[in-house]
Amino acid sequence: MAGKYVIRTYGCQMNEHDSERIAGLLEADGMTPATGLDDADVIVLNTCCIRENADNKLYGQLGRLKALKAARPGLQIAVGGCLAQKDRERIMERAGHVDVVFGTHNVHRAVDLLHHAASHGPIVEILEATVRDDHDAFPSALPVRRDNDHAAWVTIQIGCDNTCAYCIVPAVRGVEISRPFDELVAEVEHLAGEGVTEVTLLGQNVNSYGRDLTKRRPLFADLLRAVGAVEGIRRVRYTSPHPKDLRPETIAAMAEVPAVCEHLHLPLQSGSDRVLAAMHRGYTAERYLEKLAAARAAVPDLAVSTDIIVGFPGETDADFEATLKVAAAAEYDSAFTFIFSPREGTEAATMTDRFVAHDVAVERFERLRAVIDRSARRKHAARVGIIEEVVVEGPSKRDPSVLTGRTRQNKLVHFPSDRPLRVGTFAEVRVTDSASHYLYGELVMVTAAARHKTRIPVQAG
Ligand code: SAH
Ligand code: SF4
Ligand code: F3S
Repeated sequence: MAGKYVIRTYGCQMNEHDSERIAGLLEADGMTPATGLDDADVIVLNTCCIRENADNKLYGQLGRLKALKAARPGLQIAVGGCLAQKDRERIMERAGHVDVVFGTHNVHRAVDLLHHAASHGPIVEILEATVRDDHDAFPSALPVRRDNDHAAWVTIQIGCDNTCAYCIVPAVRGVEISRPFDELVAEVEHLAGEGVTEVTLLGQNVNSYGRDLTKRRPLFADLLRAVGAVEGIRRVRYTSPHPKDLRPETIAAMAEVPAVCEHLHLPLQSGSDRVLAAMHRGYTAERYLEKLAAARAAVPDLAVSTDIIVGFPGETDADFEATLKVAAAAEYDSAFTFIFSPREGTEAATMTDRFVAHDVAVERFERLRAVIDRSARRKHAARVGIIEEVVVEGPSKRDPSVLTGRTRQNKLVHFPSDRPLRVGTFAEVRVTDSASHYLYGELVMVTAAARHKTRIPVQAG
């Protein structure tokens, strides 16, 4: 298929990675990236449905695309991802100008479906996400078109077997399926051969990786060690571990494998035991803090981030105060904070008699933000004076003469550079100043040039 494509991605890294696979398929089929919506022949929206505003965003976007399609009838619009998996035909009902709807378990079919729609008209194809041996859903055999060459995502498991009362993901992404251990290690070896130096292992609950593998039941910790041992891989990240399944073996692997970065994303959700139980999270605040303390004791310099929901049904002032207390005690480097959003089909959406008033939730949200910002500022300020290893990500958004790098702790550092440094270059930067979301620094030295040709040449100065 000749022509140009655009992919708009919403949601989490799972979707980002799926978008890379869709881009890979489109390019293998002869398409090239468009500069924007206006010169695109194919527009793919890779959707999220974790919160209601994600839904609203999609239908708003589809509304705006209607005029574009009317002006250019040859334009094809495809909707994939979690909201497509959830809403299926409903998407066509609400937006008749859509050509293709595909889900999270048939990403590999995206291009075939576009061809089919071109000759036969609109099509909805969703595979059920309930079969344990559904290996078609795995990305392994698909081409991938990554935005940068030094860092890659590797999906280690799909789906989720947990039953968090607020969460739509298990209903959408289906049962938990782990990818075979050897296949994952081979994929990382292949990536390293291509010049990738950093991998992020992806799963909804990475610490239960391997539980469903029958031949041999590797632990997530085994995978961290094997991936960390691959020659050329200098940074290993992962997201997300579930606190209830965070094992001492994982913490030990983090401490012992030099490539595993000093960053742990450990979703708290609430600091109230009553709310945690209603959410079915499987841990208490005390247990959470114990695990965090164990991780910090084992991994010096560990940065910690989290996810917290305010306004879960039935959350009282006292419950919220408990969350503030635990969040303060946890001293996070950063946090994603959310106001509870009822998702149809989840247990929490039925607790309508206990819904928290929106203005109360907003006020709690702001108070929580203040607590998070306080520890984030403190954690960032504590880096001043330290020489950090950074990997260059490109010019800073605000000032092209300033480069942005990422530290092992997953913090961004902006530093001026009078010479061009390619994306993926390793450098040492002395931290000179800090804010709540990033650091400032000065270049000490370049330690390793990027090993590949980058698509985005960076000109500094
Ligand atoms: N599997 C991951 C979470 C994926 S969803 C994990 O357990 O860590 C990312 C975050 O979105 C969750 O951690 C939660 O904080 C938030 N979230 C999920 N459902 C939500 C809802 N209905 N309302 C508000 N926030 C929600
Ligand atoms: Fe959702 Fe809970 Fe599974 Fe995370 S662990 S995806 S929050 S059900
Ligand atoms: Fe959204 Fe699906 Fe990820 S619902 S958060 S894109 S798993």
